[in-house]
Amino acid sequence: MHIRQFRYGSDNLGYLLWEGNQALAIDGGAPEILAFAESAGLVLAFVSNTHGHADHTSGNKRLVGDSGARYLDHRDLSARGSLELGGTVIRVYPAPGHTEDSVVFHAGSFLVTGDALFNGTVGNCFSGDLDAFLRTIRFLMTLPDHTVVYAGHDYVKASMAFARIVEPDNPEIDRFLSGYDPKHVRSTLAEERRVNPYFRFNEESVVSFLKKTGSPVGTETERWKSLMGVE
Ligand SMILES: [Fe+2]
Repeated sequence: MHIRQFRYGSDNLGYLLWEGNQALAIDGGAPEILAFAESAGLVLAFVSNTHGHADHTSGNKRLVGDSGARYLDHRDLSARGSLELGGTVIRVYPAPGHTEDSVVFHAGSFLVTGDALFNGTVGNCFSGDLDAFLRTIRFLMTLPDHTVVYAGHDYVKASMAFARIVEPDNPEIDRFLSGYDPKHVRSTLAEERRVNPYFRFNEESVVSFLKKTGSPVGTETERWKSLMGVE
């Protein structure tokens, strides 16, 4: 499986995945996607999204209209559990929390996470369901270390500024930032486990930060909710 990241808007990130000559656009808002696919000899077979927010779905109509690709509703895909691209299976998992309809695409070592998980942080909980969001994060934590996170926005700088407030003595934050490339924004789950506060809410350093804010930290759910509540 191959992947290419396309930046658009102020900080949106969209993707083209392909296997053989079959391609799938996910959150394809970047105008140059089709030209890239054509120049690489790819057929855009499918168009889908990580969730229904307008900044992620803005390219659908144009991509489908200009290429004849089939639009696949992400909710149907996550209900079905997978799709096939060039003979290879891409898993689609529900990832509620940011929105109720959020999904993640898992293909080879690539994990396209939309606004559920960013490099170094997580999305806002617009669904209001923090328990579901915690279940999503717990699930993502079960995926292997070498998994590469391809997110829906580039929030790396802001996420590490927050991580530094939570864990000022975490030396991994500098390392994470030194690997930051705005032209190719990604991280491994191993890196996320070392810097992302929303993966680290059971670490002593994060718990002691939360205690100082006066938030409850007795259970994992409380620690998660307390961290999500930090302004
Ligand atoms: Fe969103």
